[in-house]
Amino acid sequence: MAIEREAFRYPWTRWTFLEMAGDRNFSFVLKLGGMIVGYLVAHRTGEEVYISNLAVKGYHRGRGLGLKLVHELLSRSRERGMDLVTLDVRESNDGAITFYERLGFQKVAIRRGCYPNSGEDAYVMALRLKAKK
Ligand SMILES: CC(C)(COP(=O)(O)OP(=O)(O)OC[C@H]1O[C@@H](n2cnc3c(N)ncnc32)[C@H](O)[C@@H]1OP(=O)(O)O)[C@@H](O)C(=O)NCCC(=O)NCCS
Repeated sequence: MAIEREAFRYPWTRWTFLEMAGDRNFSFVLKLGGMIVGYLVAHRTGEEVYISNLAVKGYHRGRGLGLKLVHELLSRSRERGMDLVTLDVRESNDGAITFYERLGFQKVAIRRGCYPNSGEDAYVMALRLKAKK
């Protein structure tokens, strides 16, 4: 919760985490020296894995930990035969957009007024895991 509150202007509540992070195949934390320093929450719908939350503690950013979290998700997703990984990201979150592009994600759509509290648009970003037939 501390990382979440530090990372986002409109943080998830504890309840949202309990509701959303049920699928342990695709939701996990990263620990350093026994302390949680980052987490990723994702869930599957058919062959699609959707990342609904990802954050690294501010002090530890820029050291490759975000990449480690997403690579872990990609590896688990491939193991389970998933086809596609998607996410929504705020249009203004340039850092996260660059981060996902570095991982090979592409902007594939815009969701207008996606965030109820600010009315901001979101980019839908996607990474295909399987080659197209
Ligand atoms: C996005 C986030 C998870 C990235 O985690 P991180 O551990 O700092 O990222 P990494 O160190 O693994 O970065 C890997 C690469 O992504 C890119 N990148 C990461 N953060 C960036 C930023 N703020 N600006 C530009 N590029 C960035 C860089 O290319 C970086 O490689 P480099 O350091 O060799 O240049 C982290 O910044 C964060 O928690 N942000 C706040 C929450 C958030 O916005 N979550 C995403 C919501 S969709």
